[in-house]
Amino acid sequence: MSISIGVVGAGQFAPSFLRLWTAHPDVTEVRLTDVVPERTAAMAEKQGVKVTHSSFEDMLDSDVDAVAIFTQRWLHGEMAIRALEAGKHVYSTVPMAIEADQVARIIELVRETGLTYMMGETSYYYPSSVYCRDRLAKGDFGRVFYSEGDYVHDMDLGFYAAYQYSGGEDWKKTASFPPMLYPTHAVGNVLSVTGQHATHVSCVGVKDDRGDGVFDKSVSQFDNDFSNATALFTLADGGVMRTNEMRRVGYPSHIRESRLRVFGTEGSFEQLATTTVWQTKEGVEDISQLMETKPSGNAEDLDNVDPALRDAFLSGLSPVHDRSRLPAEFAGLHNGHEGSHHFLADDFVRAVVDQKIPPVNAWVAARFTLPGIYAHQSALQGGVQLQIPDHGNAPA
Ligand SMILES: NC(=O)c1ccc[n+]([C@@H]2O[C@H](COP(=O)([O-])OP(=O)(O)OC[C@H]3O[C@@H](n4cnc5c(N)ncnc54)[C@H](O)[C@@H]3O)[C@@H](O)[C@H]2O)c1
Repeated sequence: MSISIGVVGAGQFAPSFLRLWTAHPDVTEVRLTDVVPERTAAMAEKQGVKVTHSSFEDMLDSDVDAVAIFTQRWLHGEMAIRALEAGKHVYSTVPMAIEADQVARIIELVRETGLTYMMGETSYYYPSSVYCRDRLAKGDFGRVFYSEGDYVHDMDLGFYAAYQYSGGEDWKKTASFPPMLYPTHAVGNVLSVTGQHATHVSCVGVKDDRGDGVFDKSVSQFDNDFSNATALFTLADGGVMRTNEMRRVGYPSHIRESRLRVFGTEGSFEQLATTTVWQTKEGVEDISQLMETKPSGNAEDLDNVDPALRDAFLSGLSPVHDRSRLPAEFAGLHNGHEGSHHFLADDFVRAVVDQKIPPVNAWVAARFTLPGIYAHQSALQGGVQLQIPDHGNAPA
């Protein structure tokens, strides 16, 4: 069996995946649509996409097997629901949704239809997660009781340009997207290691003070003025997780934008921008070199991506990645986000074609997304502790 995939959203992120799915041996056809017809036409020509649709609705009415959602971060939930209702398999960029009801509806639809839903959480495949999953499986951590995941990306490092590209004249309205509604690179990085889920959260938001109209409640479509937020979670096994979502921070996100720390009773893992260590009661091992990713592809392919974001879009595999499971056709192709793109693109195709549940399925995606939705609510209520609903594990 092989499949056709329709990519929705001809923005900055989609080309990486258009190239990979076009090369994938089990993908017969890749299609494209965008609400801005010029973007669809220009990207289709550049990436060699032969079939385009005039709209998302037109794509849903077509015989395409799967839809891959690469639209702005607040649009994914409703679009995934509509695609599943139309009988399409769904790949969605992060986050899964921005409302708990949307998450619940996606899970209900996946359960009812048996269609594949996968959230493209890059951090699941970061060298840090791969390394820590392996150490945990070997018992080297002992009991993990505390972990931290941060997504540290300053607005000045590419986000102003990205929101302007994305939002046009009204870009400030959406550039205020609440940091905790984009929680998956922090929460997902931790939970993809431990397999746990968060049950309760207390979060504090830091109100922005730059005064440039971004993170200004009177302008914000999300009524949001938090630019940084910190949340403390209780996990189902009694452990603790802390996350930071930072958009105003003196930190080099182009070197490493997601940082992981995992503390167990026998071993611990700590990551900074350029230094990563494994520690036991006896000493410290510098494992920074294992976290380094080789550059992949070339910057000319990234002409619609702001220069400050290009390093992330170019980062390839690290020594801890096992590329032997990937299609041979991917060798030498553009990767990105710490080597995750090749694994994401292949895992979605494998899930649909082999009818197996993907690693970041709807149930796991809910556990990576809901903690942030409730964290933001907690911050709006001055840090009050809130319970986080859980949809359980994916069915076997
Ligand atoms: N590490 C990661 O996982 C990672 C990295 C980058 C981006 N992302 C996510 O990927 C998504 C896409 O990012 P981007 O930078 O390409 O965004 P973008 O704003 O550059 O592009 C989004 C595109 O979607 C189009 N669009 C909006 N509504 C549409 C509709 N109804 N039908 C068709 N097209 C529509 C827009 O016109 C725009 O061209 C975002 O949600 C972002 O959060 C994730």
